[in-house]
Amino acid sequence: MDGNGRWARERGEERVFGHASGVESVRSAVSAAGELGVEYLTLYAFSTENWSRPREEINALMELLVKSLAGEVNELIRKGVRLRSTGDISALPEACISGLRDVEAQTAHCTGLNLILALSYSGRWELTEAVRRIVRSGTPAENIVEDTIRQHLSMPDVPDPELLVRTSGEQRLSNFLLWQLAYSELHFTPVMWPDFREDHFKAAVLEFRGRERRFGRTGDQVSGGVQDIKQGIKKEE
Ligand code: FPP
Repeated sequence: MDGNGRWARERGEERVFGHASGVESVRSAVSAAGELGVEYLTLYAFSTENWSRPREEINALMELLVKSLAGEVNELIRKGVRLRSTGDISALPEACISGLRDVEAQTAHCTGLNLILALSYSGRWELTEAVRRIVRSGTPAENIVEDTIRQHLSMPDVPDPELLVRTSGEQRLSNFLLWQLAYSELHFTPVMWPDFREDHFKAAVLEFRGRERRFGRTGDQVSGGVQDIKQGIKKEE
């Protein structure tokens, strides 16, 4: 969700105004994802690196998060959205932790969209944590395979993203879901996050649905659709 600060500055406003406006885009994304039948939506709301921002901006972001969680919980439940979080949550202020835990508990029964907030998150943090857990488990080195690492990630039950969308013209991963994005399609748009609304979200997903995903195979081999390709890989394993 990139470009909030620049969007605000272009309007002669403080950066925080951009974050606050970005909350409406979060609502739009959740709504569009629900309509399109997207099962998992992970939002990179605060990275490990974001802790180096000015204290006032961090505080404002945390306040916005607490306010948004409390203000949206009923709507999330109404839409059947289950909220979860990933990242070093213990590093967040107490009000954020309790706000998150509260909404997670209240939406735990929801079976629609899984909305995951990445907070105090980075891909390298997640991989480091995974390695620590594997070492603590005493797994012999020769028994460690790719699936061992996957099983020790923060949310092993969540499938890899099919599509990554980054707004504001930046074309980087910025330490997001480094393991999980291995085969994801990438969509970069110049639109700033506060302007990125339902139509933009839907256009990105529709454009993605038209892409050919090869998972390392040749174009000729790709004839039976994504499902067949994944099954084919499984069979060979
Ligand atoms: C990146 O833009 C955005 C963030 C660091 C924060 C995103 C947070 C929100 C949209 C609001 C709260 C979220 C939820 C889930 C309620 P930037 O500040 O890096 O913008 P810039 O690249 O223009 O400086």
